[in-house]
Amino acid sequence: MATVLYPGSFDPLHLGHIDVIEQSVALFGKVIVGVMHNPTKPSGMFSLAQRKDMIRASISYLPSVKVMAFEGLAVDAVKQVKAAFIVKGLRTGGDFEVEQQMAHTNHAVSGVRTVYLPCKPALVSISSRFIREIAQYGGDVTSLVPAPVAAELAKLFPGTPLPATRAASPEPAPEHL
Ligand code: PNS
Repeated sequence: MATVLYPGSFDPLHLGHIDVIEQSVALFGKVIVGVMHNPTKPSGMFSLAQRKDMIRASISYLPSVKVMAFEGLAVDAVKQVKAAFIVKGLRTGGDFEVEQQMAHTNHAVSGVRTVYLPCKPALVSISSRFIREIAQYGGDVTSLVPAPVAAELAKLFPGTPLPATRAASPEPAPEHL
C-alpha cells in the first residue's frame, strides 16, 4: 500500500476527478487530494478552502482519502505528506502533452515520479472549465458533478438546477455520457 498525491485545481471537482480518486484508492490505498493553484488559471471560481470542502463532502464514502490545500509546488507537497509519487488523470492526447511536460519537469527538479491513470471513456469529455461556463449561464451540470458541487454552483448562480437529493456515493457515471 502506498500514499499518493493527486494534485489539481479542482475548480470545481467533477465526476472525472472522482473516477481518478477511486482508481487511485483501488490501486495504491491511501490518496491525498491536493487542492492547488494552477498559475495558468489565475482567477479561480471557488477559493481553495471552498474547493477543499466540496471535495471532502463528495468523497466522504472513501475513508482512505484525505483532502488538503497546498500553496507552492506540487513536488514540495509530495515531500510534505511523504507521498510515494504523484497521480494524474489523462482524458485526451492534449492532456498527455501537458502532463508529460509537467511530469518530466517535476522529476528533473525533485526526483518525484508521476503515474497517469486513464479516465473512464464515459467521462473523458468533462472539464471544470466547461462546468464553470455552463453554470454561469444557468445551465444544468448536475450530471457532471457530485451533488455537493452542484449545490454550491446553484448557490453561486441562482437559476442553475439543484442536484437531485441523492447522497455522495460511488455510483457509476450517468448512462448518457
Ligand atoms: O487541475 P489542473 O489545473 O490541471 O492542475 C494543475 C496543477 C495545480 C497540478 C499544477 O498547476 C501544479 O502542479 N501547480 C503547483 C505549482 C507547480 O508545482 N508547478 C510546477 C509545474 S512543473
